[in-house]
Amino acid sequence: MFSKADKQDFLANYWQQKPLFLPSFFRKFTDPIDPDSLAGLACEEFIESRLISNTISPDNWCVRHGPFVEDDFSHLPTSNWTLLVQAVDQWHSETASLLAYFDFIPNWRIDDIMVSFATDQAGVGPHYDYYDVFLVQGAGQRKWQLGGKCNANSKLRGDTDLRLLQQFNTEQEYILNPGDVLYIPPQYAHYGVSIGESLCYSIGFRSPSQAQQLQGFTDQIIDGLAEHQRFVDPNPHTGSVTGEILPSALDPAHAGLQQLVANKLGFLTWFGKHVTQSKYPDTLLPLDQTASSGLLESALVRNPGSRFAFMEVADQVLLFVDGECYSMPLARLMLVREFCATTLFSADALQRFTEHPDFYCVINELLSNGSLLQQQ
Ligand code: SIN
Ligand code: CO
Repeated sequence: MFSKADKQDFLANYWQQKPLFLPSFFRKFTDPIDPDSLAGLACEEFIESRLISNTISPDNWCVRHGPFVEDDFSHLPTSNWTLLVQAVDQWHSETASLLAYFDFIPNWRIDDIMVSFATDQAGVGPHYDYYDVFLVQGAGQRKWQLGGKCNANSKLRGDTDLRLLQQFNTEQEYILNPGDVLYIPPQYAHYGVSIGESLCYSIGFRSPSQAQQLQGFTDQIIDGLAEHQRFVDPNPHTGSVTGEILPSALDPAHAGLQQLVANKLGFLTWFGKHVTQSKYPDTLLPLDQTASSGLLESALVRNPGSRFAFMEVADQVLLFVDGECYSMPLARLMLVREFCATTLFSADALQRFTEHPDFYCVINELLSNGSLLQQQ
């Protein structure tokens, strides 16, 4: 675990900058999940999983996508295959509890915990990702080789559906033992090979591309535009009739678009909604009826697939839950902060929120959206 000084040093000198090997980050590591349970998750229809093998030869990679059936696992060889399951934190609370050790990074940056079970000599090939990742070594050992920073010009292999690098030059090498952690920033080439059977927990972070930001934000702007908002000639007589477009005639249109994109509150709102979108929105099952007052009197839990965040902006506090934005008066700031830090709401704790009519309405809506659930 990191001390306060370690966290500061990490954030200042490594986060998003360079890889860092953290031996014995967990002094005594107990795997939160076992390979059989992982295989069980990979058989679920709504859980994303892959089986990557290099059984034909060490550098010949095949990928199969789940959901799998039990029989798929009974015919596998003893080496050269890896089972990878996405978002295990959403389905397995013991695995989700690993996230608490990384709370020095804001939780709205977290994407998921992917868990991989690898047999001897297995890996997923040399590659790079566009997100930060902490690789937490569970049972067994894995050898990790790190290369340099890649970019869109780094050549990828054409013989596999995996985004594997044509060239990989090892610059650092570590053997990870249970409880060791390796931090890899975006775009750094890496290649893990299992030594015997091993489990690895990849804590991955979200990082919307500029293309996603521009597309998402402008979609939101477009939703607010009326048909009559369109191009207007600044002066109908200044244009040439011979086909020439006078650049100056476009100044008002260009300025108008810039003004729309410059809307900071609009961007902040879009961003909060975007980063709190559930990874698998279809798995947030809404209640078939809106919450009755009875439900608000019992204990509630946050749906493990839900994301809560907030932002203090001007004279309001914006609460973001699963891609929705709820505006509250600034007087609710402390309560909203507490709301976002809570996953289990006892009936008493809940009352402190629901006694405010604005919070009462929000909680009702979160219940009917499936973001909050009745505790079983
Ligand atoms: C793995 O768990 O083997 C793959 C993790 C990664 O390379 O991102
Ligand atoms: Co990777």
